Amino acid sequence: MKSKSVFLGLVVPVFALLGACTHTPLNFGELQLSEDCSPDTAYFVNNAFPIINSSCAKSGCHDAISSEEDVDLSSWNAIMNSDVVKPGNPDGSKLYEVLFKSGEDRMPPPPELALSDGQKAVIRLWIEQGALNNECIGACDTSVVTYSGSIVPLMSNNCIGCHSGASPSGGISLTSYSDVAVVAGNGKLYGTVAGLSGYSSMPPGVSLNDCLVETIRLWVENGYPND
Ligand code: HEC
Repeated sequence: MKSKSVFLGLVVPVFALLGACTHTPLNFGELQLSEDCSPDTAYFVNNAFPIINSSCAKSGCHDAISSEEDVDLSSWNAIMNSDVVKPGNPDGSKLYEVLFKSGEDRMPPPPELALSDGQKAVIRLWIEQGALNNECIGACDTSVVTYSGSIVPLMSNNCIGCHSGASPSGGISLTSYSDVAVVAGNGKLYGTVAGLSGYSSMPPGVSLNDCLVETIRLWVENGYPND
């Protein structure tokens, strides 16, 4: 809280003043959409947020309701308001530092899986590039959809933060082909990500972009092969 107003005071004095008067959450970053998807950019919506949402913004941890330690990681605004990211400076950003701690201080704490090196690198790059609220919408190539090339990365970025370990959310693990095949076969995989009625919407609180939903639809329609 205290250091938050200092940080915001430096960056956006006018908004900080408004915030101080009204205590309403600050909203100072319009989503920037880009049509060209640069492979050298870590986009918040496409790359960083799926990792944060699946591994950190869970119920009981850093979602809008639990907000452990006053840290709410359930949206871009919530993340910036929690003062855990210093744009341009990953090594000075709590959100990045805690990924490397040991024992209970590591986030997510054991028995949750630590982030992979690739996931840590995405968070680092996103902060280095200014921690922008950005999304690229150009890249949707569903011409070749496979389990290993399309579904595994999709699950690990968006789902297994909650659906893995000894007590996976909803009693559903999504870490192996046989696990995923069960929900592909009973309609729940597509039903939840497409937000069909009768299914809980997954991931909770955010929607996968249309391209990822289409990827899942095609894979299920093809008979969810283990390829
Ligand atoms: C932030 C944690 C979280 C994330 C991320 C998450 N889930 Fe879930 N999921 C849950 C919880 C909690 C439940 C059980 C309660 C419910 O059904 O709403 C659940 C239930 C489910 C169910 C059973 C729903 C039903 O209607 O029977 C499926 C299938 C599922 N999730 C798939 C996914 C997929 C696929 C993803 C990624 C695209 C995903 N989940 C991401 C927390 C999460």
